Amino acid sequence: MTNISFPSGFAWGVATSSYQIEGAAMEDGRGESIWDRFSKTPGKVKDGTDGDVACDHYHRFRDDIALMKSLGVKHYRFSVAWPRILPAGRGKVNQPGLDFYGRLVDALLEAGIEPFVTLYHWDLPQVLQDEGGWVRRSTAEAFVEYSSVVARALGDRVKKWITHNEPWCTSMLGYQLGIHAPGLKDYRSALEASHHVLLSHGLAVPVIRAASPGAEVGITLNLAPAEPASPSAADHDAARHHDGYSNRWFLDPLFGHHYPADMIADHIAAGHLPPEGLTVVRPGDLEAIAVKCDFLGINYYSRAVVRSDKVPEAENEPRKVFVAPEKDWTEMGWEVYPDGLRELLLRVHFEYRPRKIYITENGVSYSTPPGPDGRVRDEKRLTFLRDHFVAARRAMEGGAPVAGYFVWSLLDNFEWDRGYSQRFGIVWVDYKTQQRIPKDSALWYRGVMAENAVTVP
Ligand code: FCB
Repeated sequence: MTNISFPSGFAWGVATSSYQIEGAAMEDGRGESIWDRFSKTPGKVKDGTDGDVACDHYHRFRDDIALMKSLGVKHYRFSVAWPRILPAGRGKVNQPGLDFYGRLVDALLEAGIEPFVTLYHWDLPQVLQDEGGWVRRSTAEAFVEYSSVVARALGDRVKKWITHNEPWCTSMLGYQLGIHAPGLKDYRSALEASHHVLLSHGLAVPVIRAASPGAEVGITLNLAPAEPASPSAADHDAARHHDGYSNRWFLDPLFGHHYPADMIADHIAAGHLPPEGLTVVRPGDLEAIAVKCDFLGINYYSRAVVRSDKVPEAENEPRKVFVAPEKDWTEMGWEVYPDGLRELLLRVHFEYRPRKIYITENGVSYSTPPGPDGRVRDEKRLTFLRDHFVAARRAMEGGAPVAGYFVWSLLDNFEWDRGYSQRFGIVWVDYKTQQRIPKDSALWYRGVMAENAVTVP
């Protein structure tokens, strides 16, 4: 057995998001979000479920905090639901919504748990979608207003802020592939949406800093190394394209390099953009987006192995498929590939030089149920997490400035278009009784956090 220790002060934590756990969808003046609308549209969520009740965290947050405390969790990443704060998207503040997060933050601090607050984890007020959502620049302006309201209310106590969770998912899953809310399929709209999401981040950062003195502010991207499926030139080009599509399209502008020229060219050639390119970009936008942040959040789940085939089902997106070897799959159908995290962290460190990196999500879906004795023996999740922790540590030895690691997720929860069919929690949730059972992985993680070290065979 080898003991691999982490630097002192390393921030171990767990992550969740509002729509996936809160429930109480109609309570205390909360407005409708695009996920309420989408999940209630037949055929959009695989098992026909929605987030109306979810883990009922809105009512059980004190118990959930006590649970975290019993596990020794010291850092908790959660998101604020915009429609609870500004039900009309902008304008009148809904005080009961704001108060909920005030109580949550106070209870966390009392339990010795530091809050990491994500402002946008996908639950856009439906009224803003009715105006066009992220395709409209006015949504970026509304986001700045919303951020300001939340940061002014919580900024004395919250000192870690994440503007957006995974802009790729917001724009591409939401507006290009139609898999997530609002479920649109229009490539040009998706690219325009991505610009407005990034712009809203850039404009919100100084506003948050002003309202929350001394705070660290950043953004979270979902990133995946893209590898060619074969040595062929065509597959290499497909991997280049895929890397541009999912990684560089977001990293480049955030770090001051503008949108990648090869991708603009690809999009023009494919007819996704007019010959003039991304016409929604106005003078000053790229400077705003490149605002210096205190950290970059990275969510890592798997790599993408890319082939040059065109996939008719993948709406307009040319020449890419994912063909990971079938040696190991999670229930999401994602390949288990810990070394991809090491590669990714080092690449981001050397190419973009973020001041600091938090792994804001990493975890795995296995549905292992409680045994007759009530214990959840999720050995595979434990191994998955252990191997990824080690991969992150290796990247740190190589210089990557990783300051913390948040396991996705504290609880089994509403996994978007997959509904409740996927269980990512280190804590089992019985959705009928709302009983929580810490899985073996949670009990093991308690030890990792306490020791600030991982033991590997
Ligand atoms: C990420 C999301 C998170 C969860 C995990 C499995 O893309 O940020 O909400 O759904 O995937």
